[in-house]
Amino acid sequence: MKKIGILTRDCAGINAAIRSVVRTACVYNLETVGIFRGYEGLIKGDLKVLNRRSVSGIINLGGTILKTARCEEFLTEQGQLKAVKTIKENNIEGLIIIGGNGSLSGAHFLAAKYKIPAIGIAATIDNDVNGIDLTLGADTAVNVALDALDKIRDTVNSLERIFVVEVMGRRSGWIALQVALSGGCEEVLLPEKDFDIMKMCEEIKQGNIKGKLSWIIVVAEGKAKAGDIADRITQITGLETRIAVLGHIQRGGRPTRVDRIIAARLGKLAVELLRRGETDKCVGLKELKTVVVPLEEAIKPKKINIDNYYKLIKILT
Ligand code: F6P
Repeated sequence: MKKIGILTRDCAGINAAIRSVVRTACVYNLETVGIFRGYEGLIKGDLKVLNRRSVSGIINLGGTILKTARCEEFLTEQGQLKAVKTIKENNIEGLIIIGGNGSLSGAHFLAAKYKIPAIGIAATIDNDVNGIDLTLGADTAVNVALDALDKIRDTVNSLERIFVVEVMGRRSGWIALQVALSGGCEEVLLPEKDFDIMKMCEEIKQGNIKGKLSWIIVVAEGKAKAGDIADRITQITGLETRIAVLGHIQRGGRPTRVDRIIAARLGKLAVELLRRGETDKCVGLKELKTVVVPLEEAIKPKKINIDNYYKLIKILT
């Protein structure tokens, strides 16, 4: 294998993953071609060779240096054939596709139907890729939302108000759930779960009688609009309710330490899988469980495996 291509969606950590892919590829004398604007760039042949220096100084940047776009044409056979033509004409022997379910479906399609070696890197703020515990970008998104929510809490506490905060997630309540738990919120409305607004309003009324006046209710955008929920609360309880819609700030921003490390590890793994002749696979992180350890074990000196991270630092520098 001499040449691979990389295309992406956007979320925090993707640039760090591009860096990891390109620099790992360099170690194996593989050329990496950046494909601009996702599948649209693959169809149009919008490509640029990336080298070690092309990915300097991007580890801490949100978004994607490769740009991205929704591409209806790739959903058609004609579009797919154009994409395959670009791949063949440019001697691209394998693809690394970084994104969520849409991007990964495209990767699967290219691998299964057109026999183009393709590896996906699970990257979406929604953390809704099956088989993966934590997708790239999800940690940053939650931290951005949490930071905003903490600021809202200041005014909630000071003014003793009810606030409905809308977070992203059209089909997934993951951000909402994480933010509600880590932000100490009173209620969370999720696309995956039925919700009884009368019951919540009754709790608010009862709380109000007992002197609990501050409430933060988190709602995932796919469940309801913050404004509609706030209006209903006011109608039912008679209490003033404010809203905040956090929107796309959650998909941007500086990637967290967690996302940068996921990016470094998965970028390298994806290149290595392609080199080994693997295809039609998705890489991600799994197993973030709680454990119970006897105290006797816990107080023994801990052996930390520094080798893997140390090697990765050297490969990616
Ligand atoms: O899939 C990620 C996501 O950010 C969802 O949480 C959100 O509903 C959707 O994308 C928004 O997409 P767009 O930016 O195209 O409106």
